[in-house]
Amino acid sequence: MYSSEQIQELQRLTKTLAEGNHGEKAFEIVEDLRKVLRFHEYRYYVLNDPLIGDTEYDQLFKLLENIEKANPELITTTSPTQRVGSGLNAAFDTVAHLVPMLSLENSYNAEDLLDWDRKAREAAKLDVIEYCVEPKFDGASVSLIYENDHLTRGATRGNGVEGDDITTNIKQVRSIPLHAAFSDYGLDVVEIRGEVLMSKSAFKQYNDQLAQQGIAPLANPRNASAGSLRMKDPKEVAQRRLEAFLYNVSYHTATGERVDDAKSKLLDTHHGMLQMLWNLGFKSPMKEMKVVKGIDAIIEYCNEFETKRDELPFEIDGMVIKVNDLHLQDRMGMTTHHPRWAIAYKFKARQGTSKLRSVEFQVGRTGSITPVAKIDPVFIGGVTVGSISLFNEDVIKEKDLKIGDTVLVERAGDVIPYIVKSMAEVRDGSETEIVFPKCCPACNSELFKEETEAVWRCVNIECPAQVVERMIHFVSKDAMDIKSFGEANVRKFYELGLLKDIPGIYTLDFAAIGSLAGFGKKSLDNLQAAIEASKTQPLHRLMFALGIRFVGETTAKVLANKIHHLLDLKDYTVEQLQQLEDIGIKVATSIETFFKNEQNMQMLQQLEELGVQMVNTKRGAVAEGGLHGQTFLFTGTMGKLKRTEAEEMVEANGGKLLGSVSSKLNYLVVGEDAGSKLEKAKKINTVKIISEDEFINIISAQTA
Ligand code: IVH
Repeated sequence: MYSSEQIQELQRLTKTLAEGNHGEKAFEIVEDLRKVLRFHEYRYYVLNDPLIGDTEYDQLFKLLENIEKANPELITTTSPTQRVGSGLNAAFDTVAHLVPMLSLENSYNAEDLLDWDRKAREAAKLDVIEYCVEPKFDGASVSLIYENDHLTRGATRGNGVEGDDITTNIKQVRSIPLHAAFSDYGLDVVEIRGEVLMSKSAFKQYNDQLAQQGIAPLANPRNASAGSLRMKDPKEVAQRRLEAFLYNVSYHTATGERVDDAKSKLLDTHHGMLQMLWNLGFKSPMKEMKVVKGIDAIIEYCNEFETKRDELPFEIDGMVIKVNDLHLQDRMGMTTHHPRWAIAYKFKARQGTSKLRSVEFQVGRTGSITPVAKIDPVFIGGVTVGSISLFNEDVIKEKDLKIGDTVLVERAGDVIPYIVKSMAEVRDGSETEIVFPKCCPACNSELFKEETEAVWRCVNIECPAQVVERMIHFVSKDAMDIKSFGEANVRKFYELGLLKDIPGIYTLDFAAIGSLAGFGKKSLDNLQAAIEASKTQPLHRLMFALGIRFVGETTAKVLANKIHHLLDLKDYTVEQLQQLEDIGIKVATSIETFFKNEQNMQMLQQLEELGVQMVNTKRGAVAEGGLHGQTFLFTGTMGKLKRTEAEEMVEANGGKLLGSVSSKLNYLVVGEDAGSKLEKAKKINTVKIISEDEFINIISAQTA
């Protein structure tokens, strides 16, 4: 790692190099800097365990960029700066794989595996075979070629014999090294295989982004990674945060150099091959795989992974069992389609078929019209699915859906269920077109669609469906958090004429509600207390609760921090709003439109008169708070404080919350059963690891 003095020295050197007077040593110095950058990329992207913060990394990266800009003769193809492609990909060239990319035979249960093991032992003439069991990654299959230790080509699987040349896009996957010392193992040309993935969290983040832009989300991380690899603009690929697991060396040629015996032995087994890839800086499934003997151990390991499938950070759809001995693999060979030395064990299907009976059109709080397919209930992955969002009109067209169609439905872990496709081949002619309405199903006003959007909208601000949805959002947990109100009560009170708009929440006729079935004194008291308590919710919650388009929780916090009173925002211009952190033209315009609307202003005035706090009581404290500049993260279960309470205490005292452990973190507050965050923090000297009681002491010292 570089100290700040060393960075200064490097900066000084950059200047000298920029002036063109570099000596013999220049290349060595720059190469050293590259090594440091590669090391930190490896810690971050392969090990998920960074040792320096993003800013420090960026500083070093910039330094290298500057040196290379001033001294282009010092640039190498494997420099970390050379990942970022310039320009767009033209059409992808078709290229032949060195070894065809075969697919695997599938098995679905213990009997299938028993049968396969028996055949494998017969073919190998052995009583027991040693296997390697590893996850079957659910992403996009790729092949990479390294020549003389340099990544020279990346290709998609294609038809197995030929694929698309996606080298530039592959270089955007930061866990794939541009340089790997295969020569240390006596190899000069190597073709390796693996799977490019999008983690569940990266996928969610990407889909949230799409949803904010009114674009239908991608179905699953598999489609997202396959689609990403074929994008025209490498810079966009880089933003998708793709990862890659490499699990096979399909081809290699030797340089003929003598390699010490211990190293060459690594290439005798699949396990050794994974170890070699790992040693060379690739993400291979070393931590996820297990070497086992006998069928019982295989089944046990497969079951273990199936049980924890939902907890893994990425999607897997099964396990792959491979004969460990590579020489035995060679002897066993392959059938026309599959290798005999490996088999996939597929987890229970998360797909099912059903009939599409009807489509309902739901009106959201911003007036968006969402088609929702009603299907015959089907049991998939432990859940009964009866309704599936179709997002927008384009999805219906793209999937060619008709009422009466048999549809294939998929539901994967925490991914919402979706229709994979309709089965046109089993249509009997009775199917009918899905007609997208021209008018709002709730208020009958004409629907509009902006040219750049795929979503139709009802623009009538008084549309009853929107009014109800806005109220549901207002009382919800992440907004004003009015406990025991909930969606059902909003709908019920609205239908009975007891509630007509958001201010009406604070003027409810409790006597009338008390006379309704199911409302005893206790529930009424609870509801009343929760409504009262919501009046003093922090300003950012109110800001979010208003449901202004594109203003999510984070934007609401940014805005709330900048103002003293909510109504201050009516004087902000679009330009001024855009000066704020993370607020672009779209968000700024939406905020301006909201505060220019007379009805909205009236609603806010009513709310204030009814006692809803609109002043930012925390703002002063944030600027002056004793924890200003300090960062906190909580892990494990705490005994005395709720997580949200503790987090609010940090913010109220001017501190900042971080989402993960890095060198930017000052305090990790550890509760019971703390896991990987604690382990990670222990490795960073600067992070102070404290207990809940110590945290409470820090807070008390602020307020004393
Ligand atoms: S081995 C010659 N290992 O599953 C054997 N494949 O039909 C090469 N996959 O196309 C495949 N995880 O894209 C292997 N750990 C793993 C895998 C894996 C995912 C994919 C691969 C292949 C398909 C099998």
